[in-house]
Amino acid sequence: MSNHKTIAIDGPAGAGKSTVARMVAQKLGLLYIDTGAMYRAITLKALREGIRTDNPAALTELAGRTNVELVAGSKQQVIMDGEDVTEAVRYPEVCLNVSKIAQISGVRAILVEQQRRLAEKSGVVMDGRDIGTVVLPRANYKFFLTASPEERARRRASELATKGYTIDIEKLTREIQERDYTDSHRAVSPLVPAADAIVIDSSGLGIESVVNMMIDLVEKDK
Ligand code: CDP
Ligand code: CDP
Repeated sequence: MSNHKTIAIDGPAGAGKSTVARMVAQKLGLLYIDTGAMYRAITLKALREGIRTDNPAALTELAGRTNVELVAGSKQQVIMDGEDVTEAVRYPEVCLNVSKIAQISGVRAILVEQQRRLAEKSGVVMDGRDIGTVVLPRANYKFFLTASPEERARRRASELATKGYTIDIEKLTREIQERDYTDSHRAVSPLVPAADAIVIDSSGLGIESVVNMMIDLVEKDK
């Protein structure tokens, strides 16, 4: 483990992890790493290659020959094998399949190893589902960010509306709940708060309030 500052942010879909993590990283001068984007990139490639989600050997092999880079900037870019897939990893087809692929232990082992290596190089704010429990169990700070499923679906819907999509909010709530269920009940690295995580329920809380809560806790220790 390195001496760099490490902050782990876990929680369910739409809790605000990536928005908050990016801002906290910016304020503290740390690198932001969106681990969900790595699982999404593997999922996109599997869909393109027509590999079924129930074929763990082929998916693990695919993860092993895929290079995913996360490029810092105002909006983190996702580069898969040299191609910019920042937009493509958000496609509905990827959202529907990513949790199935993220259940595969071989795929997880490969991505966890890459994530740990990134955190050895510099201080990081890393967000995902298993950062505080598995990837960086000795992170300096662990947050578990959550909000009600309805609020998370509303947030996602307004985000998608700005991109021109028309959203069936009930369907989106159901999809989010299904993904939460798969993520929380899988055998490998399920979505659970680490025993020493600070749980923040952001229902009704604005982005700035959550960011300030986190920064205050980190600065308090200085
Ligand atoms: O942005 P959103 O919260 O919807 O999802 P994400 O963070 O991009 O993650 C997409 C999916 O990848 C999650 O639903 C999990 O199935 C999986 N994931 C994971 O298993 N472990 C992580 N550390 C990050 C994501
Ligand atoms: O990464 P995760 O799936 O946890 O959530 P996100 O992509 O950061 O946030 C989902 C949407 O909720 C974004 O459009 C945020 O701007 C919004 N959000 C919010 O309205 N209030 C918060 N406290 C946090 C996020």
